[in-house]
Amino acid sequence: MADKMYYPNSELTREAYCASMEQYKQMHEKSIKEPMQFWGEIAKQFYWETPAIEDKFFSYNFDLSKGDIFIKWMEGASTNISFNLLDKNVKSGNGDKIAFYWEGNDPEDYSRLTYRKLLEETCRFANVLKSKGVSMGDKVVIYMPMILELPIAMLACTRIGAIHSVVFAGYSSDSLAERILDSKAKVLITTDGVWRGEKLLLLKNICDEAVAKAKKHGHQLESCIVVAHLRRLNNPQAMDVANVSWDDDRDVWWHDEMEDAEASCYPVWMTAEDPLFILYTSGSTGKPKGVLHTTAGYLIYAATTFKYVFDYHPGDIYWCTADCGWITGHTYVVYGPLANGATSVIFEGIPFYPENDRYWSIIDKYKVTQFYTAPTAIRSLMKFGDELVKKHSLSTLKVLGSVGEPINTEAWLWFYNLVGHGKCSIADTFWQTETGGHVITPFPGATPMKPGSATFPFFGVLPELLDEDGRVIEGEGEGYLVFRRPWPGMMRTLYGNHQRFQNTYFDRFNGFYCTGDGARRDADGYLWVTGRIDDMLNVSGHLMSTAEVESVLAEHSSVAEAAVVSKSHPVKGQCLYCFITPNAGMTFDEKLQIELKKKVRERIGPFAQPDVIQHAPALPKTRSGKIMRRMLRKIAAGDRNIGDTSTLADETIIQLLFELRPCV
Ligand code: PRX
Repeated sequence: MADKMYYPNSELTREAYCASMEQYKQMHEKSIKEPMQFWGEIAKQFYWETPAIEDKFFSYNFDLSKGDIFIKWMEGASTNISFNLLDKNVKSGNGDKIAFYWEGNDPEDYSRLTYRKLLEETCRFANVLKSKGVSMGDKVVIYMPMILELPIAMLACTRIGAIHSVVFAGYSSDSLAERILDSKAKVLITTDGVWRGEKLLLLKNICDEAVAKAKKHGHQLESCIVVAHLRRLNNPQAMDVANVSWDDDRDVWWHDEMEDAEASCYPVWMTAEDPLFILYTSGSTGKPKGVLHTTAGYLIYAATTFKYVFDYHPGDIYWCTADCGWITGHTYVVYGPLANGATSVIFEGIPFYPENDRYWSIIDKYKVTQFYTAPTAIRSLMKFGDELVKKHSLSTLKVLGSVGEPINTEAWLWFYNLVGHGKCSIADTFWQTETGGHVITPFPGATPMKPGSATFPFFGVLPELLDEDGRVIEGEGEGYLVFRRPWPGMMRTLYGNHQRFQNTYFDRFNGFYCTGDGARRDADGYLWVTGRIDDMLNVSGHLMSTAEVESVLAEHSSVAEAAVVSKSHPVKGQCLYCFITPNAGMTFDEKLQIELKKKVRERIGPFAQPDVIQHAPALPKTRSGKIMRRMLRKIAAGDRNIGDTSTLADETIIQLLFELRPCV
C-alpha cells in the first residue's frame, strides 16, 4: 500500500511552475552545477540596493579540518526584506491586494489587511521601535498570539535592521526569560492576553514574570509594548480580565504609540549576511539553540520554495495553520508568501473551536487553494469521523501540505482522499528550523507521490545517507540524513555560540551538515525520513530534548534521577514517558506524579506535559553509568524483546521496571 504511486492531477500539472520530473531534474542539476546562475536569476526578481559581487556569490566551508564552518550567499549585495515584501508589491500595482485575511478565535472576529495597509502599519511600528531606541542589530522578542500585529512587528524589525526573536506564546515564563536573557533583548512585544478555544491566556502576566526573572539574572528589558487584544474584543468578560499590571517606566500600549507614529519609514539597507532573525529550537543538551538566519539567502530561498512547493499563482488563497512562534510560521506565513505577493489566511484559534470542523469551514469561507498543516492536526481531526469534512465543499483546494514529522500512511490517505477529494497533490515537506525552508519535498505538478515519503531534494540541496562510519550509502539503504553543501536559506550559526553550531551539526560527520534524522532511500530513489536519531522527541510536531525535560524533573526535591524517552502516540506522534527514581525515603505516589507534570508544564510549556510518569527504583545503566535509553524505550512500549542486557550493571532492573509499568 505504502508504495503505491499517486500522480499529480493533469489540471495541476498544466499550470505548474515545475510540470514534469524531467523539468525538475534539469532545474535541480542546474542549481547544483551553476548555483550562481541559478540563484542569481531568481534574485533578479527582488530589489538590491547594491548587487552581489560576482565571484563572491557563493562560498562556504563544511570541512572542520580546513577551519571554521561558514556559509555565505550573495556577498556584497544589500537590500531590505520589508522593502521587497511590501513596497515592491505596492509599487507594482498590488497595493489593494489582500496580504492577510485574519480569522479570529471567535468566528465573529475577522479582518483583512491590504499590502498598502500592511506597509503603512509596518512603517508606523518601525518608527515606534525607533522611538524606543531600537536600531540595527538590536534584539526584539515577540511573544504574541496569531494576530495581525505579529507579522507587522516582525516586518517592522526588518525595516530597521533589528533582529526579531519570536517566542511561541505557549511557552512558560521560564522559557521566555531564558530566551530574553540569551538574546539580551531590548524590547518585548506582547498582548494583554488571548483566547485559545475556550481557554484564556494572560500573556502580559507571563511576560511580567519572565522580565522579572531575566532581571534577577542581570538583564534589564527596556520596553514592553502591549497590544490591547482582549480589550478590543468587545467582550465584557474579556475586558474584565484585561486589567493587566503595569510598569509605567517600561510598559506602553501599542495603540497609544501607533497613534502619532508616521506611516513612512525609510528602510535600512542590510548586507546579504546581516542577521535577520533568531529562532530558538530545542537542543539535545537541554539549553535551547538560537538558530540564526541572515538576509539575502533566506529571502530568495523562502520565496522560491513557497512558489514551487505550493505552486502558488496570482489569485490563489493560501493558508498555513502554523504559529509564527515556529519556523513554519516565519518562512511560510510571513516571508515566503509576502515575497510572492500572495494572499494568505492567518488563523488565531484552534481546529476544535467552536466546532471540530473549524478548519474545513475556514477553507470554504476563504476559498483556500493551498492548505498547509501538520500530521498531528490531521490525526486529531480524523478522530471526529468523515461526516464533519463532507459537510464542506473544499472544492477550491489544489495543494495540501504537511510538515513537522513523518506522516503515517493512514493520515496521508485520509488527507488525500477526503480533504483533497483525490485530486490535490500532497507536499510532504521535510525541513527544520535550521534549514530555513523546505529541503526535501515533492513538487505538486511534477512528483508522483508515495504516502509518507518526502520524495526528492529541493533546488540547491544535495542529501546523502551515511552509515555509522560516515560512508556514503549509494542506492537503496538507510542511514543518517546529511547534506553535502549549503543552500541559500540555511542557518549560519547559533546565536552567540559558533562553537556549539560546529559541534552540533558538523562534528559527527566531517564535511556534512548532519540533520539528526534518519532516512531511507527506496529502489525508486524516494527518500523516507524515519525520525530523530538523537535524544530529541517530536511531540505534536514540537521538537524537544529528553535532557531538557529530565533536568526539570530532577529539580524536584523528591527526585533523585529522571530519564525521559519517547513513546508512540496515536495523535501526537510521540509522547513523553518518564522514569523517576525518588530520593531515599521519598514515596512515589499520585501526588508526586501530578506535581511533576505540573512542573514540566510550568517550566517548559503545556505542550511538553508528560503522558506517563513511571516509578523506577533504579535505571538500567552500563557499568560506566550510561543510561540505556534503548531499553527504556522498549519498556515504555511494553515490548519485552529487549535484546542483549549483558552490558548492564544490574540486569534484574529490567524485570522490575516491566512489573512497575503502569497500564497505558
Ligand atoms: O525530525 C524532523 C521533523 O521535525 C524536525 C525539525 O523540527 P523543527 O526544527 O521544529 O521544524 C519543524 C518544521 C519545519 C526534523 O528534524 N520533521 C519535519 N518535517 C518532517 C519531519 N519528519 C518527517 N517528515 C517531515 N515532513
